[in-house]
Amino acid sequence: MNRDEIRQLNKEFESVSADEILHWALKYFGVNNIALASSFSIEDQLILDMLLKVDKKAQIFTLDTGRLPQATYDLIEITRKKYAISIEMFFPDASAVEAMTKKKGPNSFFESVENRKECCAIRKIEPLKKKLSTLKAWITGLRREQSEARSDVPFIEWDEAFGLVKINPIADWEELDIWDYIRNNRVPYNRLYDCSYTSIGCAPCTRPVKKGESTRAGRWWWENEEKKECGIHIKDGKVVRKE
Ligand code: ADX
Ligand code: SF4
Repeated sequence: MNRDEIRQLNKEFESVSADEILHWALKYFGVNNIALASSFSIEDQLILDMLLKVDKKAQIFTLDTGRLPQATYDLIEITRKKYAISIEMFFPDASAVEAMTKKKGPNSFFESVENRKECCAIRKIEPLKKKLSTLKAWITGLRREQSEARSDVPFIEWDEAFGLVKINPIADWEELDIWDYIRNNRVPYNRLYDCSYTSIGCAPCTRPVKKGESTRAGRWWWENEEKKECGIHIKDGKVVRKE
């Protein structure tokens, strides 16, 4: 898939629905070559519901960093049962975690941005690479509204960092519309959203937000706003921009 095709598809996707994008993607790449990366956010749960309506055999995977909140594991279990699906869980390399924690302790991420990025690299990026190397395309729940850095997220892009196509079918959705879909379709969601969490990652690096704070304010809250990406959506130190 070349740049011109991607540009053309982005134009077409502006006027079609998210489930039509998913339909196209599964047909184009084939169910064995594409997967949803889910953190079990409301975005990912919405996509999971739509995706399984398109094809019950669609692949769903998650990166289990070993530090997720119990509520997220509970939701994984609820989701597995409700949809009668299996969800692939990718773990970090044990020896890499052992070496990091032996040298720096279990909470090194609080001490510096470098340490935090090291932890995200070991616990998220390396396991992600493993799965993405088996695929031609991956699907994410990225949205433009989520942060300034994500304001240009396209529907489809070439993911330079991992060497495959990346599809963001709800790039243009607003949070209220996601909640409408979740409620209307009785999609299970993480109970932490009912406790003022608006974006959920690892337990030690996520906290609830206060009224008026931005959606991602509770993620790595001790860092500056512009550093708040874990690296799975970054190319050359920047969030990938629309062409
Ligand atoms: S992050 O980069 O800050 O962690 P965020 O939590 O906003 O990202 O999630 C954006 C998208 O990245 C999700 O919709 C999902 O597609 C993917 N993602 C994030 N965390 C994970 C995870 N632990 N496992 C699988 N996919 C993930
Ligand atoms: Fe480590 Fe926190 Fe990144 Fe999770 S979010 S991988 S605990 S630094």
